[in-house]
Amino acid sequence: MIKPKKIYFANVPTPLQVINFNGNKFLIKRDDFTGVELSGNKIRKLEYLIYQAKKEKADYIFTTGGEQSNHARAAVIAAAQAGLKSKIFLWGKNSSNPEGNLFLDKIYGADVVCLNKKEFAGVNEIMFEERKNYFKKGKNVYVIPEGGSTTLGIWGYIDVIDELKKQTDLKKIKGIVCAAGSGGTAAGLLAGLAFAGLDIKVYAVNVLYNKTVITNKILNLARGCVWDYKLPNEITEDNLVVLDGYSNEGYKKISSNKINLIKKFANSTGILLDPAYTGKAFYAYKENFLNKNLGTKYIFLHTGGLFGVFGKRKEYLELK
Ligand SMILES: Cc1ncc(COP(=O)(O)O)c(C=O)c1O
Repeated sequence: MIKPKKIYFANVPTPLQVINFNGNKFLIKRDDFTGVELSGNKIRKLEYLIYQAKKEKADYIFTTGGEQSNHARAAVIAAAQAGLKSKIFLWGKNSSNPEGNLFLDKIYGADVVCLNKKEFAGVNEIMFEERKNYFKKGKNVYVIPEGGSTTLGIWGYIDVIDELKKQTDLKKIKGIVCAAGSGGTAAGLLAGLAFAGLDIKVYAVNVLYNKTVITNKILNLARGCVWDYKLPNEITEDNLVVLDGYSNEGYKKISSNKINLIKKFANSTGILLDPAYTGKAFYAYKENFLNKNLGTKYIFLHTGGLFGVFGKRKEYLELK
């Protein structure tokens, strides 16, 4: 096995807490606590990716996501900490009065390029073309694809299995539930569990891609990682379950019943969930596990994303 190197940004280990909600106890892994500006799941992948960018002597990182992308925000801030500049290619509208993550992207000095949905479909080509232009100007660029989800980036979530092993008896755990956008978090967990020889399922709540697309993305990433880093284990399809149908309102929207749950959860536990990922994933977790009182056997992974709340202030405030 070849274990890649990383740069250290995140506050880890993040706590594994037992929380009581609605009379049911459950386990929650607090990856919303990985840092403040750098909070959430993305920073774990960026530790590997920014190390690689520095190793390749990059001057800039390019990356991409939605206009409220948590990944882009974390990448911009991690790059700044590592002394790199950043340019980000976002699906959405620019604003002179930006909210949430877009606001942070700007105050951390990122060059922001906004693309419409059609342009965004070709964002990888756009980034690599722009990289050629930078090369011509003598600038080296490291391109980080959507969500930092590469076979290198997902090592961030292989590490989480090692962390969890020290925090609980994983033999008593049947599943780990997380939101899936680009699929790297779920893929890292899947690879990490297989590597540790643990028969625990990963439940991925797809918020961006349909079930077939996200299944393929997760399996390809996990299997690609096993191949690239010569891990001595196989990825079994049966250990991945996609909990589909929890983002029918669309990636950039959130239904009122989910906002109601987020508010109720915040008021009774003090834990805030975000509108694009963890709010939807927790809704799925509640329906499938918490309501059946299975919360101590299935870990909910809080992947952060809290600055996204400020991009949805109106929706949060409208509901009582
Ligand atoms: C807060 C949050 N949770 C979960 C995810 C999903 O992670 P992944 O892209 O690795 O599937 C993301 C990013 O996409 C995110 O920002």
